[in-house]
Amino acid sequence: MSAGDSNLRASDEKRESATSADSVPSADAPEAFAADLPAAAPSVPLVRVEPLGRTFEAPSELTLLEAAAFAGIRLPRLCRNGTCRTCLCRVVSGEASFTIEWPGLSREEKAEGYVLTCVAVARTDLVLDVPEAELL
Ligand code: FES
Repeated sequence: MSAGDSNLRASDEKRESATSADSVPSADAPEAFAADLPAAAPSVPLVRVEPLGRTFEAPSELTLLEAAAFAGIRLPRLCRNGTCRTCLCRVVSGEASFTIEWPGLSREEKAEGYVLTCVAVARTDLVLDVPEAELL
């Protein structure tokens, strides 16, 4: 064995010990990698307004009326506090909830999917039927 052979062996040992000390996660431990990833951003519901055919994002901190206005869509409105019913429209699909406890809707209207956009927020993607909607 030459002096070069012992140097090679010493460097191989260093490499092996460095590899085990670095403790690279194996493919059997994907959670080790997942911990390093940023949390996925919560998805923002999308609201489609028919028959206008426009879609806008409706974050939970905005009412449907506010989110539509930010997207350049004018929905019918007047009082903006859930009493005049000018903004009454029907949810064709999806789920919304109200920002106030007693919006001006009857039990039957709620059961049929009607909402007041000035006091409603999207909980899922929605399709709204608002024939009077227009672009700002
Ligand atoms: S604008 Fe009056 S109830 Fe919505």
